[in-house]
Amino acid sequence: MRVRPSHEIDKPNSYIQALHGEYADWAYAETKAVTMKGRWRELAFSSAPESMPLDLEIGTGNGFFFAHRAATQSSRLLVGVELKFKPLVQSIRRALVNESRNARIVRYHAGFIDDLFVPGEINDIFVHHPDPWERPRKHKHRLIKREYLNRLYELQRAGSTFEFKTDSRDYFEWAKREFEGTNYILERYTEDLHSSEWATMNYVTHFERIFMQKGQPIYYMRFERR
Ligand SMILES: C[S@@+](CC[C@H](N)C(=O)[O-])C[C@H]1O[C@@H](n2cnc3c(N)ncnc32)[C@H](O)[C@@H]1O
Repeated sequence: MRVRPSHEIDKPNSYIQALHGEYADWAYAETKAVTMKGRWRELAFSSAPESMPLDLEIGTGNGFFFAHRAATQSSRLLVGVELKFKPLVQSIRRALVNESRNARIVRYHAGFIDDLFVPGEINDIFVHHPDPWERPRKHKHRLIKREYLNRLYELQRAGSTFEFKTDSRDYFEWAKREFEGTNYILERYTEDLHSSEWATMNYVTHFERIFMQKGQPIYYMRFERR
């Protein structure tokens, strides 16, 4: 089920007001977000060339990685998809405070990603610490499912990557099985990211820090979209 559009919410809180007001040029509410489909570079990024890489982060949370990525990869474009208003506004604010102008965020349910992009429109994808839905009855809510991955695969350009990390061993094993049923090629895999060869190039997200402080390992995979 798609979410209720934010303009229909009777008593909008300050974050909803900011989405439709102060940040409207950078953070797109549901009805505006879908108008970008197939035309992100042209409409959202001032006619950026079609060849310019456009990356996607699903579930930005409060946006530390989102802002970091935008700042450190200024020759690439970045679109975030976030369901909750507070983290959405925090994410775009963080990027703008850094003076990054290459990032946009949309308020949308990432499960309906085809509403937002056409095949071949996206480059790299990041999914960091998605809600784990660990109880078996709740597995149906998990975002990472074979059918969903196949759709993301179609939306990505050849030669791109898909980065997935989680603090949940159960979700990690689930995700690995789901990826195995797709055309994605596994290129990185570790059950302890912070002790791995990729530790130094890793950016620790907000949720990641919380789980690290509890002494939990971080599970990480990266896939290639050929
Ligand atoms: C556990 S937090 C992780 C945030 C961040 N990636 C990090 O590593 O700190 C998961 C985030 O995904 C968002 N989220 C959950 N389901 C979503 C969906 N279907 N579409 C978009 N965002 C979603 C939540 O609102 C939350 O901000």
